[in-house]
Amino acid sequence: MAKRKREYFSEEHRAQWKTRTGFIFAAIGSAVGLGNIWRFSYLAYEHGGGAFLIPYFAALFIVGIPLMILEFGIGHRERGSAPKSFHSISGRFEWLGWWPVIFVMFGIVVYYSVVISWCVNYLFYSFNLAWGADPNSFFFNDFLQLSSGPGDITGFSRPILSGLLLVWFLNWLIVYAGVEKGIERATKILMPALFLMIIALAIWALTLPNAAEGVKQYLRPDFSALGDTGVWMAAFSQIFFTLSLGFGIMIAYASYLPRKTDLAGNAYVISIGNCIFSLIAGLAVFGTLGYMAGVRGVGVGEVVDQSVGLAFVAYPQAISIIPAFPHIFGVLFFGILVFAGLSSSISIVEAFASSVMDKFHYSRKSVVSVLCLAGFLGGIIFTTGAGLHWLDITDHFLTNYGLTVVAILECVVAAWLIKTSRMRKYINSVSTLKTGKWWEYSIGFITPAILAYFFITGLYGEIISPYGGYPIRWLLLIGYGWLIITLLAAVAVSKIRWRHEKNEV
Ligand code: PHE
Repeated sequence: MAKRKREYFSEEHRAQWKTRTGFIFAAIGSAVGLGNIWRFSYLAYEHGGGAFLIPYFAALFIVGIPLMILEFGIGHRERGSAPKSFHSISGRFEWLGWWPVIFVMFGIVVYYSVVISWCVNYLFYSFNLAWGADPNSFFFNDFLQLSSGPGDITGFSRPILSGLLLVWFLNWLIVYAGVEKGIERATKILMPALFLMIIALAIWALTLPNAAEGVKQYLRPDFSALGDTGVWMAAFSQIFFTLSLGFGIMIAYASYLPRKTDLAGNAYVISIGNCIFSLIAGLAVFGTLGYMAGVRGVGVGEVVDQSVGLAFVAYPQAISIIPAFPHIFGVLFFGILVFAGLSSSISIVEAFASSVMDKFHYSRKSVVSVLCLAGFLGGIIFTTGAGLHWLDITDHFLTNYGLTVVAILECVVAAWLIKTSRMRKYINSVSTLKTGKWWEYSIGFITPAILAYFFITGLYGEIISPYGGYPIRWLLLIGYGWLIITLLAAVAVSKIRWRHEKNEV
């Protein structure tokens, strides 16, 4: 069997990153996304600012970094996309590789690219502050044309659809060109630009009058909130989302690393770099909110009431009253969101495409083309008036339950099939930075136990009070249903026989 596998999985033709920095930029590119600015800021805001940062950093060190080391270890050791890696660990677990790439590609990224499209539109709106005097009504009524519920699917919005087309065209353009010539090249430009832009925005925001009030709210720790499980759950699931863990992405990206590489060192640089970006983005957002609160004469906690609206309602509101060059401030903010979003969306297109290429050996060009077209078509429902409801439900279920289950099972596979001690030995044999025995406890017990606890309490809460007050049938269909359908699809694909390798790139 071992010999047969090797025959299928000859690694000679596997694409590779050209440089270590190229890989680091690409992986940070995947990690830094809308999640760092839009999702992180509204979660921090919702959970009282400073109260959120303690569980957030605890989650980073307790589960984030250990899991990233594990995903890098799996992809690098097996030299494959998530399905190929799990297949070579044990044929019975191949589905565990397919499931995340399927539900992220056809669940998370289909709506994620719609949010990037909102940002593209808002980037253009910034030129003439098109949201006018009432950005709230502009966003929900004029722009989204929000319908009454998920079942009320009204016609789609032209600007969002056009933006979506552009996003998928860019995804296609970058991933089509390959790992080194496409992704590495694009992220080497996007990521430094992104860091410079966010620093510029933060400095600008912090120099606005009354910005300090916002920052105080953001950084002041609130120890009483630590007793609230909801805050912890939000912080843990945000760490997964923001580090792209449980997506199958980091496994695929690590498979393109050369044999000798500092896996553990890379994991630290990438996860800490990602969280520093979020911290700076938080300064920019809260600084601006502080300014706006000052102008309006209200408390920082009162400037926003609808959390998703933070980037598209509160921020535009603030942009309109910026004393100098508000247009540039707006372009900078939405430009950051577009860059960050694109460098993430390409990573899942790559993770899915590499899975299909590994198993079926179709050419990159055809896989990526079909995939981007499918991604665009799949996103259309989110451009309708019911889009935000669909987005809210899919985001909630796929992120809170899908990613958690995948991460728990990855730990189980590492502990039972590979053995954490063997995995640690492997990681240490290639890495410069050595990982201590603590990692084995983390992956073997602590991480899966914490995640299982959140999973069970979360699900229990779901039964007591169905999410967001939506009708149960819609939660069953696009929440639970989507997880189950993608799981069945993953099992079905894993049952298909592996095709022999011809020459592939
Ligand atoms: N880490 C990304 C973020 O924070 C999440 C993501 C990655 C979403 C890849 C989609 C695709 O935004």
